[in-house]
Amino acid sequence: MAGLWLGLEGQKLLLWGAASVVSLAGASLVLNLLQWAASYAQKWRQMRRIPTVARAYPLLGHALLMKRDGREFFQQIIQYTEEYRHIPLLKLWVGPVPMVALYNAENVEVILTSSKQIDKSSMYKFLEPWLGLGLLTSTGNKWRSRRKMLTPTFHFTILEGFLDIMNEQANILVKKLEKHVNQEAFNCFFYITLCALDIICETAMGKNIGAQSNDDSEYVRAVYRMSEMIFHRIKMPWLWLDLWYLMFKEGWEHKKSLKILHTFTNDRLIGRSSAHSKNKRRAFLDLLLSVTDDEGNRLSHEDIREEVDTFMFEGHDTTAVAINWSLYLLGSNPEVQKKVDNELDDVFGKSVRPATVEDLKKLRYLECVIKETLRLFPSVPIFARSLSEDCEVAGYRVLKGTEAVIIPYALHRDPRYFPNPEEFQPERNAVLERQRLQCDICSHQRASSRTRTNQNSSNNHFQCHLKPAVNSLHV
Ligand SMILES: *[C@@H]1O[C@H](CO)[C@@H](O)[C@H](O)[C@H]1NC(C)=O
Ligand SMILES: *[C@@H]1O[C@H](CO)[C@@H](O)[C@H](O)[C@H]1NC(C)=O
Repeated sequence: MAGLWLGLEGQKLLLWGAASVVSLAGASLVLNLLQWAASYAQKWRQMRRIPTVARAYPLLGHALLMKRDGREFFQQIIQYTEEYRHIPLLKLWVGPVPMVALYNAENVEVILTSSKQIDKSSMYKFLEPWLGLGLLTSTGNKWRSRRKMLTPTFHFTILEGFLDIMNEQANILVKKLEKHVNQEAFNCFFYITLCALDIICETAMGKNIGAQSNDDSEYVRAVYRMSEMIFHRIKMPWLWLDLWYLMFKEGWEHKKSLKILHTFTNDRLIGRSSAHSKNKRRAFLDLLLSVTDDEGNRLSHEDIREEVDTFMFEGHDTTAVAINWSLYLLGSNPEVQKKVDNELDDVFGKSVRPATVEDLKKLRYLECVIKETLRLFPSVPIFARSLSEDCEVAGYRVLKGTEAVIIPYALHRDPRYFPNPEEFQPERNAVLERQRLQCDICSHQRASSRTRTNQNSSNNHFQCHLKPAVNSLHV
């Protein structure tokens, strides 16, 4: 009897227990949702004052307004920056995520000079399968310690050692371009990008892949395809989940390319660390095998692979795009081209000897041409940080978690600092240098990487010119 009673009560208790667990879970779900909604509503209210382009809808934000195609979206953003040039910042809600666009030097400076706002935008996570958590994708302490370890590998004397490779590959490029002299117009970007790939491969990994003479290398194809797939995926929210991504053909191709890319770097890595051959040139990878952090720890193979892959990705396309636009602007401005030609004659005369570092220092006008090209067509025209704490920009409170979108393309067209901004005037750099404005506005990247590493500014000059990959991608 007592047993039966106990059993019944026990069952009731069990049922009651189960019911309360279920309702507890339900309640906590509801509570979470409510909390989320409350914080969203609060954010919405607190950011209300920040100017925007049109009315945003709850949850959707401005999603319906935005162009889906990457190129059109970029043009749309640039149009806004032109239309709202007089306004310090613009707010856009991307779904429930707030984004502020910054394109005035004073306001960009607030973010880039802060030693705390170093978190990469969440979109960088799609680079992680390939690049791991290297300099481009990492943040916080990992980023800080890596950045410190890698800085010595960009010392002037080391970069000087890479000049031979650059000369060799540049000669091949010139021979290829010579065939087109007095022929019809052609797209030079393809030639340039293969040359840049050859240079970065040999300087980073010590391996000559001969992309310029054989453009059908499996590795080269994988580099291209991978970059394409990553940018495609960022724009397509339904491809974001890894498991789901594999259900698509592109997901499989992504996986296959990943294997080719990692195997290539790993093979180099194993080859280099065991060989110790003396007659070979030292590559970036060899330097990484010997660097240590403050406690004397070396980088693991995995760490090194991350960094080498990162430089493969960053190091060729940014440079190729900059050379491409420089050639375009030189071609469209014959008077500028003439001046560059004269300067080259002054330095080299009739000689066809390879260029030395001393020569490069003398090519001051060419340097102005490159800077002016990067002003009009920055290799990274737009990039983002995720704010790790609240901050104040032009009297507006911008909340933690906001994506700060910085737009060098518009920043470099501010008529207050660059009169007639659309005009290609290399001379303006000489003027700017005299006014010492260079550091603050045109090369804001340089300022940014300096504050982020607390390093001395004495070696600024070479860093600005010889580390395009590091600086233009703000790693
Ligand atoms: C290279 O320059 C040409 C102009 O000559 C331009 O149309 C093209 O978009 C550029 N390519 C890249 C990838 O920037
Ligand atoms: C920074 O540079 C200055 C002068 O260029 C030099 O005197 C100083 O020792 C440097 N500091 C460090 C920490 O390297």
